[in-house]
Amino acid sequence: MNTIHINESRLLNRMERMAEIGMVNGNGVHRLSLTKEDKEARDLLKTWMLEAGLDLDIDKIGNMYGRRKGETDDAPVAFGSHLDTVGFGGRFDGSLGVIAALEVMETLNDLNLVTNSPLCMVNFTNEEGARFAPDMMGSMVVTAEISIEKAWNATDLKKSDIILKEELERLGYLGNTDPASFRPAAFVELHIEQGPVLEKEQITIGVVESVQGICWTRFVITGEVNHAGTTPMELRKDAGYVVSQIATYCRQLAGEYPGLRTTAGLIELEPNLINVIAGNARIATDIRCPDKHILEKAETALEKFAYECTYGENCEIEISTLTQVDPVKFERRVVASVANSARSLGYTTKRMVSGAGHDAQLMAGVCPAAMIFIPSENGISHSVKEYSSPDDCVAGTNVLLHTVISLSGS
Ligand code: GLV
Ligand code: MN
Ligand code: MN
Repeated sequence: MNTIHINESRLLNRMERMAEIGMVNGNGVHRLSLTKEDKEARDLLKTWMLEAGLDLDIDKIGNMYGRRKGETDDAPVAFGSHLDTVGFGGRFDGSLGVIAALEVMETLNDLNLVTNSPLCMVNFTNEEGARFAPDMMGSMVVTAEISIEKAWNATDLKKSDIILKEELERLGYLGNTDPASFRPAAFVELHIEQGPVLEKEQITIGVVESVQGICWTRFVITGEVNHAGTTPMELRKDAGYVVSQIATYCRQLAGEYPGLRTTAGLIELEPNLINVIAGNARIATDIRCPDKHILEKAETALEKFAYECTYGENCEIEISTLTQVDPVKFERRVVASVANSARSLGYTTKRMVSGAGHDAQLMAGVCPAAMIFIPSENGISHSVKEYSSPDDCVAGTNVLLHTVISLSGS
């Protein structure tokens, strides 16, 4: 049995302290990317990283790196997650992985243990995509899935005059480092499961082997504002009617294709008044599937349907892809390292697919990667009700510690 363990109270106290930033309903967290709450969270992390003696670096998309020297100058073993949250989200999604990464560094400091490879912890910018699309933006820029210019020009999904690069500058997190220079030897992300499997099966550690693909699409419909009572039904150009049909069809698609999960979580009408036909309507859909071909087929069907119902209502439509990430399979060697570390610590394990998207999914494109999951109470996440027990947070962080030690050849 292994004897090296993290400092539990330091980890849990820091999680508590971080959850105070943007806290809502006394439990959840509302900390959208590049808001003043995100800055406060970043500043706190920065203080902790410097106190831990890490060499701090910020890149052009605002990703924060904390490096610790190794015996060699090899590429580092990297680990981390994100501090931003969805609106009215939880305190564990992302934050656990970042604070656990810091705890790994602190534990190694306590033990005076210098790993063979250098280590690097990361806080990725805008993982959630709740304010600026695409999601997983920081890791997408690192892996050149999107250009830095495209990311900088992203606008706030609700206020189109707010530009991401200006927010980075305003908050003091527009760094100079080229994101594409981050090429670690391996990347590991600890995260809550955000689903019901581990809790139901009473398993402590999920060994994540793959992540399903994601497609986000925005449909903007232009119709004509008119009077609800006087406009004959056949003369309407009702943009609201079109988006409601798209939302319904999006849900129905999940019944037509195996393994597909579909959501229409963002719908906006203008002018959004009870007795006025909507002249403009926007809907954004989120479709996910572990099978790339099914995902593509479903997306094509949705777009075809959107055109048909738009023209049927004499409206106009603009369609844009906000996020497109393929399903990934993690590298066997890193997955095995997670599984071995968990077993050596005496934790129960289960191999699984991630339903949520993660930065590790992008990092897998440039280095071997894997993830560690811990149970989520009632499988709830992206909600203020999100909860994972202190024991499970500690267990996941111990597994991260041992995985990092093993991958860094120490
Ligand atoms: C990330 O939070 C996702 O939407 O899967
Ligand atoms: Mn997350
Ligand atoms: Mn999330």
